[in-house]
Amino acid sequence: MSDLATSTAAEESAELVALLDVHVRRFEEQFGAGPGIRCFFSPGRVNLMGAHLDYNGGPVMPMVIDRGTLVIVRGREDATVRLRSTLAPETFEGRLGELPPEASGCWSDYSVGVLRALSRQASDLRGLDVLFGGNLPIGAGLSSSASICVGTALAVDALWGLDLEPLERVRVALQAERGFVGVHCGIMDPYAVGLARPGHLLWLDCKDQSFEHLPIDTSEVCIVVADTGVRRQLAKGAFNRRVAEARLAYETLQPHAPEATCLRDVPLEVLEAHGGELTGTLEHRARHVIEEVRRTFEAREALLAGDLAGFGARMSQAHTSLRDHYDVSVPELDCLVEAAVAHPAVLGSRLTGAGFGGCAVILAKRDYGDLEEAVASTFEDRFGTRPTVEFFGGDRGPREIRGIGAAGGQ
Ligand code: GLA
Repeated sequence: MSDLATSTAAEESAELVALLDVHVRRFEEQFGAGPGIRCFFSPGRVNLMGAHLDYNGGPVMPMVIDRGTLVIVRGREDATVRLRSTLAPETFEGRLGELPPEASGCWSDYSVGVLRALSRQASDLRGLDVLFGGNLPIGAGLSSSASICVGTALAVDALWGLDLEPLERVRVALQAERGFVGVHCGIMDPYAVGLARPGHLLWLDCKDQSFEHLPIDTSEVCIVVADTGVRRQLAKGAFNRRVAEARLAYETLQPHAPEATCLRDVPLEVLEAHGGELTGTLEHRARHVIEEVRRTFEAREALLAGDLAGFGARMSQAHTSLRDHYDVSVPELDCLVEAAVAHPAVLGSRLTGAGFGGCAVILAKRDYGDLEEAVASTFEDRFGTRPTVEFFGGDRGPREIRGIGAAGGQ
């Protein structure tokens, strides 16, 4: 049975509906007006706990936000695929069955990777015209790539009638990012986006990929994202280096913890007793991972007990560890986090995503007063630029939105 979530324009925020209207008009300008246009939304995510744990087999606690990727799509009679974006000038055109076997370095790789994977699952496929867009900052650590992959999988699933389970769309998204685009990413992002549920965050155990949805009361707290504006060209290489360092730390410690199958399994006592066998850098990497596993379990207990202050405290401790042990912070992120946690409405704050720039996520009480001004002006005094500080709600997850503009018939 098909597992496609849908909503109507009436159930969506006025802001999202207005944005969809603009995108539908842009679609018509680019590809021509006419019936059969369908609209999909795929959110971005913040990771609240479990930083750099997914590729170490640990638990993570991501949550989707009400900003994301819009996918406006219409099927074609022939096998042509045309992909465009409101966010980048490059376009893609190809034919199903002849899609390129290798990534080109362009944004469209994410969607082409998904299309290649899904076109193997069906026969007699018709092409499509797609316009991507939305309101998710790109490269800011909010998982724009998983958002576009899951959004593409959802739209293509709906158009081709593939009847995929959400988990199958997640796997296709992961396959596209890893196998086609070639990023050594962990599993967290497509799971976070693809399995999102309203009013919940995702508890994902990356060792066995089991997951559950844990309630978080967004009427009590809100998610604030402050963007440093720093985008590091070398972030991908630095991320891959962390993956390699963590692997090496695991391989060195594993003989002392024979049951361990990943760094997550190595007990802190083993690190304390045998950390001397690691270089200083690797000892720091292992310490972050092993202590972050413990912190993430504690954060889970705090959340389940309704102790949001305890949950937030673990977030802030995670940032300190990311700064001091995992070395993925930058002064701009530290400044945002310090300014945030000094504010009375803030429960906790840390960098989100891989780090090396991008955004800090702040868990704040709903009654947040002058938080935006406090964080932005502290940052501006120090770095001379004003960061964007935005307040997000949760989101209900990837879905088709019906009743938009001329696409209203769907
Ligand atoms: C990036 C990766 C994720 C995860 C985070 C760090 O966002 O894509 O898989 O490793 O970094 O927690």
